[in-house]
Amino acid sequence: MLIYGKEVAANSLKKIADETVDFNNKYGRVPTLAVIIVGDDPASQTYVRNKINGCKQVGFNSLSFEYADGTPQQEIVDKVKSLACDDSVDGILVQLPLPKGYDEEKILANIPDSKDVDGFNASNIGCLCLNRPRTVSCTPLGVMHMLESTGVDLTGKNAVVLGRSNTVGKPMAMLLLNANCTVTVCHSKTVNMSEFTKKADVLVVAIGKPKFVTADMVKEGAIVIDVGINRVDGKLCGDVDFQSVEPKTSYISPVPGGVGPMTISMLLFNTLMCAKTRQAE
Ligand code: GUN
Repeated sequence: MLIYGKEVAANSLKKIADETVDFNNKYGRVPTLAVIIVGDDPASQTYVRNKINGCKQVGFNSLSFEYADGTPQQEIVDKVKSLACDDSVDGILVQLPLPKGYDEEKILANIPDSKDVDGFNASNIGCLCLNRPRTVSCTPLGVMHMLESTGVDLTGKNAVVLGRSNTVGKPMAMLLLNANCTVTVCHSKTVNMSEFTKKADVLVVAIGKPKFVTADMVKEGAIVIDVGINRVDGKLCGDVDFQSVEPKTSYISPVPGGVGPMTISMLLFNTLMCAKTRQAE
């Protein structure tokens, strides 16, 4: 069966929109997300536009700040600092990747944990590891919602994550561990990767190589979530060779239409959580 992120995301968006009405009734304001983008990368511009549209859809306020490539880093740091102090702002997102020459770490370090809607800050990652999650990186959080939508109990399942990035692979592994899976993380230096993937009841693929996972690497009846977004000959495809793998799976997410649509709904979910937490303090 297919897991369509769009449908799962639509359910989340409906809940967030309802909660935004409650939030507004209670506090007389709506959550506000500030987005910063540097440069004119078309993909990043599309993502930012979609994030702003997502805010509108659930009734949030949004602020967007666009800087040309070449803007002094200090100017961007100053903007982040001023948003950090602005009580009307609940979440701050700096669209990544930044153009060459900018120090991502230095800029992101100015986002307070309480407004870190990406869940990228060390202390938010630490809280996830301690199974006391605050904000969690949007893509892996979206994958968990997709897995939940299957109704399959994850307890005791062998989960294998392909990829160990700080933004996807590592938080994904932690979320699956917190959901009582037995977790293996494979990466570019893993020897005999298919020995691991063949044992996976749940396989999450975020390795950034088009059609990398083939049918011979997958266990019969597995749940396969494809986080990859690659463009091959002008067409979008994932990290999983969907055609050959799909018949072996119990559930599989397609690309496009799978994980992609979840990311924005999870960003809005995190923004609402930050707003609620800040309001309660
Ligand atoms: N670029 C691609 N995905 C993301 C994301 O989840 N957050 C940010 N800040 N930048 C991204």
